[in-house]
Amino acid sequence: MPDLEHNFMYRMVRRSRLARHVIRDIGFALDMQLLAAYKEPEELALLRRVKKESDIYLTAGEAYMVYTLARAQSGLPGAMAEVGVYRGGSGKLICEAKGERPLHLFDTFQGLPGTHPHDRGFFQPGLFAGSLESVQAYLQDYPQVFFHPGIFPETAAAVEGTRFSFVHLDVDIYASMKAALTFFAPRLVPGGLILVHDYQYPGVRRAFEEVFSANGHTVVPLNTSQCIVRGPCAS
Ligand SMILES: C[S@@+](CC[C@H](N)C(=O)[O-])C[C@H]1O[C@@H](n2cnc3c(N)ncnc32)[C@H](O)[C@@H]1O
Repeated sequence: MPDLEHNFMYRMVRRSRLARHVIRDIGFALDMQLLAAYKEPEELALLRRVKKESDIYLTAGEAYMVYTLARAQSGLPGAMAEVGVYRGGSGKLICEAKGERPLHLFDTFQGLPGTHPHDRGFFQPGLFAGSLESVQAYLQDYPQVFFHPGIFPETAAAVEGTRFSFVHLDVDIYASMKAALTFFAPRLVPGGLILVHDYQYPGVRRAFEEVFSANGHTVVPLNTSQCIVRGPCAS
């Protein structure tokens, strides 16, 4: 488990809103320079545009993973989903990649719900408050995008019988992550994936330990704050 309490960058980010913004913006710009050495100009232009339009809460490399995995998974049957939409930045990347596949977007649109002691004070309720109407307007040109405002999993009933090829979870905190992993992991199509943000946080790690201790899912940590969850392989 990463020692975030003693990490210089995390201490700065926790102490000051300004530091948080500066570190995020500089980080994004540096990441873009790295990506420019490997990736297509059209993909870089998309990332730059989404950052500008939505203040996406991912690094450029993380945003690239959302886009490229959604694109890879769009050839499989099944819907896509995201829990943790905020201003719609990562949702827009999925929309750009998904083709005609349905995309279900879950968020309170009023920021994080209550936290748990497992979150060790890293997040406060209400952080990342957004607006359902503005995200709906932002994504209005894409087909088959469905909004589920409210606290997940209370909003999950509408997709109880749906199977998913790609799920993006960006919810930051223990209770939300546990609920989302519990719901989506058994609903992946063969070959389906869950991409998870914030895998370094204690609440998220705890949710993983509790949900995946006893079944066949494989967790692959990436060299960002993300990890990928792959469903059980057919025997
Ligand atoms: C860091 S933001 C997501 C950032 C976003 N993916 C982007 O592209 O910028 C985390 C979001 O998770 C949402 N969230 C956390 N737990 C939730 C839950 N149980 N139900 C619905 N939304 C939740 C918050 O409202 C917040 O908008």
